Amino acid sequence: MSDRKLTLTDPQSGKSLDLPVVSGSEGDPTLDISSLHKELGYFTFDPGYGMTASCKSDITFIDGGEGILRYRGYPIEQLAENSSFLEVAYTLLYGDLPTSDQFSGFERDITYHTMVHEKINTFMQGFHYNAHPMAILAGVVGSMAAFYHDKLDVKDPEQRELAAKRLIAKMPTVAAAAYRHSMGWPSAYPKNSLPYSDRFLHMMFSVPAEPYEINPVAAKALDLLFILHADHEQNASTSTVRLVASTGANPYACVAAGIAALWGPAHGGANEAVLKMLNEIGSVKNVPEFVKRAKDKDDPFRLMGFGHRVYKNYDPRATIIRKQCHEVLAELGKQDELLDLAMELERIALEDDYFVERKLYPNVDFYSGIIYKALGIPTSMFTAMFAIGRTVGWVSQWLEQAANPTRIGRPRQVYTGPTERSYVPIQNR
Ligand code: CMC
Repeated sequence: MSDRKLTLTDPQSGKSLDLPVVSGSEGDPTLDISSLHKELGYFTFDPGYGMTASCKSDITFIDGGEGILRYRGYPIEQLAENSSFLEVAYTLLYGDLPTSDQFSGFERDITYHTMVHEKINTFMQGFHYNAHPMAILAGVVGSMAAFYHDKLDVKDPEQRELAAKRLIAKMPTVAAAAYRHSMGWPSAYPKNSLPYSDRFLHMMFSVPAEPYEINPVAAKALDLLFILHADHEQNASTSTVRLVASTGANPYACVAAGIAALWGPAHGGANEAVLKMLNEIGSVKNVPEFVKRAKDKDDPFRLMGFGHRVYKNYDPRATIIRKQCHEVLAELGKQDELLDLAMELERIALEDDYFVERKLYPNVDFYSGIIYKALGIPTSMFTAMFAIGRTVGWVSQWLEQAANPTRIGRPRQVYTGPTERSYVPIQNR
C-alpha cells in the first residue's frame, strides 16, 4: 500500500476519513473503502460493479483505454503468435512460461485426465436430444463433484491442483459429448496421442464408420481461439466463480456457476448471437437498417459483438481474430459472405457518431463465430467453445483465491421497498 490517500469529509457530521489508495503493479489508483461504513456510516452504490475492484489478482492485466491485454505480463499478441493453448494454460495457472520439463509434465497430466467417468456419459443420455450444449455443460460440470468427491478438499493445495487439471482436461470431452448427443452419435473417447485442440476436433467430428483426418489449419485456428478466450480478469463469469468460491463451495460447483454466467448473450453467449444477427441481416444492403435499429432506444436490438465494459479503444483479441478470420477462410478455401457482411457492418458502425461517441468497437465475439462456422462447429456450440478456453481462466482465478481466501462475497443494496408495515389477515385484505 502506498502513502497516497484521499480524505473524505462528511458534511453532516463534519467527521473526516483518510481512504488509503491501493495501487497495483500497473498503476490504476484504487480507493480502499473498507473502513467507510464503520467510520462514516456510508456504503457505496455501484450497480454492475463498474468502478469496484473485488479482489487483488496477479493473473491478467487489461488497459481498456489503450487496448492492452496481458496474461501474467505477456502481451496477448505475443502469446497468440508464438504460444500454444496448453502453454498459455500453464502460464496462467503457475505464473510463468514453463520450461520444457515443466511443460511436458503438465501436458502429460492434462492428457491423463481427459476421460470422464463412464457414468457421466450415462448421465448425459438423460438430456433431451435438442438440449442446448451450455445447459448440458453447466449440468454435467456441476455433477462432477459427485463423481470426483474423493478429492474435493479446497484447503488442500494438491487436491485443488488436481481439480484444476481435471477441469481443464475434461471440459473438451464434455463439450464434444454434448454435441454428439445432439447429433445422436455414439460417444467418442479422447485420443490421448493427439495434442489438446486436435483431440477436441477428433472427439467432435470422428465417427466409427470412417477415418477422420484432422486439418492442421483448423486445429491451429482453434488453439488460437482458446488462447484468446483463456482469461479476461474479473469478467461476469469469473467474478461468479470467485463469488461462489468465497462460500467455500467445491471447484466444480464454482465452474458450473461460471458456465451459467457465460451463457448470457451480453457475455459469452454473444458469439452465438452475432452469427444469428449476421444471418438475420442477411445482406450488405440491409446493414444501415440494422445500425439504425441498434441506435434506437425504443428498440431492444443491439449490435451483438459490439461494445465492452472495459475496452474503450479496441478489443485487442478482436484485432487478432479479424486477421485470423481472413487467413483461416482462405486456407480452408471457405469464403464466407458473412465475413463481408461483418466487415461492412464494422465499417458503417465505426463511422457512425453513435458508436464513435460511445466508444463501441467490435469485441472478441464479433469475428470468432465466423471462424467456428468455417471449422464446421455449429452455432449452438459457440459458447461452449468459449467455455473450454475460459475454463483455464476460471480455475486459475479460483486457485488464486482458494490459496488466499477472502471474506465471503456479499454485496450490499440500496433498499427501495416498503418501510415497516403490519401484517393484515387474508380476510381483511
Ligand atoms: N449496440 C448498441 N448500443 C450499445 C451496444 C451495442 N452492442 N453496447 C453498448 N451500447 C450503448 C448503450 O445503449 C449505452 O448507450 P447510452 O449511453 O446512450 O445509454 C452505451 O452504449 C454504453 O453501454 P452500456 O450498456 O452502459 O455498456 P456496458 O459496459 O454496461 O455493456 C456490453 C457492455 C458488452 C454488455 C454491451 O456493450 C453489449 O450488450 N454488447 C453486445 C453484447 C456483446 O457483444 N457482448 C460480448 C462482450 S465481450 C465478450 C464477453 O465478455 O463475453
